[in-house]
Amino acid sequence: MEIVRDPARIRDVIERLRHQSGRPIGFAPTMGALHEGHLSLIRAIREAGTVPVASIFVNPIQFGPGEDFERYPRPFEKDCERLEAAGVACVFAPASFQMYRPDHTVYVVEERITLGLCGSRRPGHFRGVATVVLKLFNLIRPDLAAFGRKDAQQARLIEKMIEDLNLEIRLLICPIVREADGLAMSSRNSYLGPEARRQALCLFEGLKRAQESYARGERRTNRIREIVIEEIGRRSLARLDYVEGVAWHDMQPVRELGPGTLVAAAVWVEQTRLIDNLWISPDGEPIL
Ligand code: PAF
Repeated sequence: MEIVRDPARIRDVIERLRHQSGRPIGFAPTMGALHEGHLSLIRAIREAGTVPVASIFVNPIQFGPGEDFERYPRPFEKDCERLEAAGVACVFAPASFQMYRPDHTVYVVEERITLGLCGSRRPGHFRGVATVVLKLFNLIRPDLAAFGRKDAQQARLIEKMIEDLNLEIRLLICPIVREADGLAMSSRNSYLGPEARRQALCLFEGLKRAQESYARGERRTNRIREIVIEEIGRRSLARLDYVEGVAWHDMQPVRELGPGTLVAAAVWVEQTRLIDNLWISPDGEPIL
């Protein structure tokens, strides 16, 4: 597995891989601290017949002041071992100064999908995400890219950026990967102490109750929100950030849930912010 740090080299390396293999390039962007969720993205791009390429870059411009940029876990060597074992051909891992020169002034801003949910809680976050993902796409030039559905608003933003900016990239949005007890996998789960980890399950449990209620025929967003809020309210270390029913296509609130909508939620457990969602698939199945 080749590790490339220099943005000036990555295009040549990728073109060589494309040429030697005769296969298209599949790309999974990450910030490292890898877990099974990331590895499922690698599996998905491999199964699609592409040469798997990953990036590890903790993108400073998607973190707000006082967020966890400094303490974000960076187990780089272990991450590389896991990527190599998963069959990744090349890892792009630039340093911040190589991605953002001091005179960097151009950013990608989406003006609808990113206004609510995490976008309103983390001002500038999605501007940072869209900007770095477009830069990574321009450097790697993948044919296929994989993102996880846990970050639903991010996944939809990337899908919309591909549409609106005419990028020739096929997008795979992969299912949420969960721990055995249901907690959605996240690099930030490592911040949780034992009691916080136990209580963090309220997010999944609230959404699971919402799923059951939907399956029994409940469609009113307000009622479903109440169910999730009640479950989170039963834990002393957990504080609701938001729970909303929104349409997948524009991430705007809906009164009624149905195919193509989701219930997106974020919760603080002590100092750790976790997100998760219940997706109602186009054929009407509520999927966690
Ligand atoms: O989901 C993430 O890990 C990040 O937001 C991404 C897509 C790698 C961009 O920095």
